[in-house]
Amino acid sequence: MDIFKTIDKLYENNSCEREELIYILDNLDIESKRYLLEKAHKTRMKTYGNTVYMRGLIEFTNYCKRNCVYCGIRAENKNADRYRLTIDEILECADLGDKLGYKTYVLQGGEDPYFTDEVMVEIISKIKKKYPENAITLSIGERSYESYEKMFKAGADRYLLRHETATKKLYEKFHPNASFENRRKCLNDLKKIGYQIGAGFMVGLPGQTNEDLVNDLMYLKELEPHMCGIGPFIPHKDTELKDEQAGTVENTTTMLALVRLLLPNVLLPSTTALGSIDPLGREKGIRAGANVVMPNLSPTTVREKYSLYDGKICTGDEAAECRKCIENRINRTGFKVEVGRGDNINWTRR
Ligand code: 5AD
Ligand code: FES
Repeated sequence: MDIFKTIDKLYENNSCEREELIYILDNLDIESKRYLLEKAHKTRMKTYGNTVYMRGLIEFTNYCKRNCVYCGIRAENKNADRYRLTIDEILECADLGDKLGYKTYVLQGGEDPYFTDEVMVEIISKIKKKYPENAITLSIGERSYESYEKMFKAGADRYLLRHETATKKLYEKFHPNASFENRRKCLNDLKKIGYQIGAGFMVGLPGQTNEDLVNDLMYLKELEPHMCGIGPFIPHKDTELKDEQAGTVENTTTMLALVRLLLPNVLLPSTTALGSIDPLGREKGIRAGANVVMPNLSPTTVREKYSLYDGKICTGDEAAECRKCIENRINRTGFKVEVGRGDNINWTRR
């Protein structure tokens, strides 16, 4: 196999055999990586051009009933300083976001039983009533079909639920008492209900191989999500993975580029985790085909508490500073910020 020809084929067809993806990951060197990034960039220019969409992230609760082994807000972490924003505080974040020009809010939180369907419906309806043009994205984990449906009917537009890893064995290792099948069912349910869905995975999980990463790529190709969140695994001091190595910028940008080639229309964030392992991580992600950033809108008083991994950036910065900072970074990288809902280009509005 010739790696340049394989990348060409991927660029032209937006699809690839498992063996070819393995071959790329096993044989990528400086030159072929450069070539891969160039092809990913060309692809994004054809679909979304040089725009980067901004989403305002509201981290509204760090209570979580689950115990994902890698995560700093896992239920069993007694050191986590727990908080919940009130409905009014969430609405204040939405006001601030609108003022800063964000047309999409991402409401993210742990799996917190306090936020029942009724409470979520109230929050969603209130935001939609005030800002009917703005999109609401939820990122609150696994729930029932009925729950997803109620929130959709209340006005939620999109849902992020990373699949985390498409290898069953690896999934089970990191998610005690959770079901690999149920997570996939949730993604299918969300899609069926009509959400724009976001899947995604971590790069560099302890024990993860190139075969596992190819499983992620193959799964994404089959699921065809509208969005895909990819970030490096970063150890958190209060977890049993605290002494493990973090994922690398190189491997993360490789995966971003491959996902851009496999799913040319996907909305692909350059994640905070990527920016946290390298001061120019997000810029590198954007150059690898990413076209979304999610600056933080949460009150600075709680930022540090939403600690999924160590060394998270922007915990001390006011939302307005993040807004400016991100825009400058994007401009300096040669791209332009687009304030708008930034729906997937295959999407027709309901
Ligand atoms: N390192 C990197 N990413 C993490 N996430 C959770 N914990 C970590 C960690 N230690 C990611 C998961 C989750 C998303 C919200 O954050 O992929 O889906
Ligand atoms: Fe938050 Fe730069 S994006 S300070």
